Amino acid sequence: MSEGIMQADQPPELTGDTPDLFSKFDDTIKLRENLLASGVEDPFSLVMERVLSPTRAICNGRDTILLGTYNYMGMTFDPDVVAAGQKALADFGSGTTGSRVLNGTYQGHKECEDALREFYDMDHAMVFSTGYQANLGIISTIAGKGDYVVLDIDSHASIWDGCAMGNAEIVPFKHNDITAMEKRLKRIPEGAGKLVVLEGVYSMLGDIAPLKEMVKIAKDNGAMVLVDEAHSMGFIGEHGRGVVEQAGVIDDVDFIIGTFSKSVGTVGGFCVSNHPKFEIMRLVCRPYVFTASLPPSVVATAATSIRKLMTAKDKREHLWKNSQRLHSGLTQLGFKLGTDEPQSAIVAVIMPDLEKGAAMWSALLTEGLYVNLARPPATPANMTLLRCSLCAVHSDEEVETILGMFERAGKAVGII
Ligand SMILES: Cc1ncc(COP(=O)(O)O)c(C=O)c1O
Repeated sequence: MSEGIMQADQPPELTGDTPDLFSKFDDTIKLRENLLASGVEDPFSLVMERVLSPTRAICNGRDTILLGTYNYMGMTFDPDVVAAGQKALADFGSGTTGSRVLNGTYQGHKECEDALREFYDMDHAMVFSTGYQANLGIISTIAGKGDYVVLDIDSHASIWDGCAMGNAEIVPFKHNDITAMEKRLKRIPEGAGKLVVLEGVYSMLGDIAPLKEMVKIAKDNGAMVLVDEAHSMGFIGEHGRGVVEQAGVIDDVDFIIGTFSKSVGTVGGFCVSNHPKFEIMRLVCRPYVFTASLPPSVVATAATSIRKLMTAKDKREHLWKNSQRLHSGLTQLGFKLGTDEPQSAIVAVIMPDLEKGAAMWSALLTEGLYVNLARPPATPANMTLLRCSLCAVHSDEEVETILGMFERAGKAVGII
């Protein structure tokens, strides 16, 4: 019997000093209490009482413009998408009640993977239940003991969690720093397996990665490359394939990870690849195998949306116009933004601190505008941000209205 088991057999006597496992959250509890005591509404428990369209909802009984969703291409109320979901719900029922490798692969899952293969013009596509699980699964499975994962320090939580779940050595480098990435790669012992993990768009500041340079360096140093295009799919690149397409490196990357919870307008995640052995992932990737597959209605909406995004050139153009107008308007008003130029559909407004950020968030909501309040640990460099994410169906007038709301709220809170 091992020592560990002996200890389990004889639990220590519980005393008044037994540590409360929740005590590790005390600082966060205090921070939240202080924030609410300042009189602002809780920014992390807003309820959308009714959703009227991709850009409008009723919040606190008020018609509110949505500028903090990931509904970049406005697909959530697309009539074809909604009809496909309704038909699949009626024809196939509400859920699969099983894993993709058992009873959970329906015709709709195959059609969704066909749509992804066509969208990216790639050989393989694997649909996961969320984008989070796609990163968790692919990274932890592909990079094993003795391998190295080289990743940007500002990577999304799902990428970090994928690293934590696997057994590879983890080597972070400074955000978007090409030289730092190259140095880390060159220090890896000869013969070790290497995976470089990058994002097309970094969702906190809305900046893009220098993929042309980074992918070349990764390849020159014998690494495989995975790019998470969660925030660029549907929008960036001629066909909406992401920053990899815009940078001309789509044929050089080994895996693209994406999600259905942003431009596609539903829920789910995926990985596409041209690797000849990719299909084995379906048997060895635990976050794919040991969870239930997406409901038929969800994969039907996703497949329909993905096919429509292939030809959404006009929407892509209008979204760029919106992003440029919001960025220039906020700059002119005197707000400090996350990027000097608009690089994506995300425009991040940097707040002086959490208190001012929460006050500004609350003032905007009272004006009838919803944005995301983002704070550490989600944000880089301890920043508090008001993250604005534009939608292809925000009208020109809505963008002007939004700028007026920012001006009034910014002056009232004393930020501009
Ligand atoms: C870069 C990135 N990757 C992955 C995900 C996870 O996507 P999902 O919402 O499908 O779990 C997100 C979600 O915010 C993200 O921003």
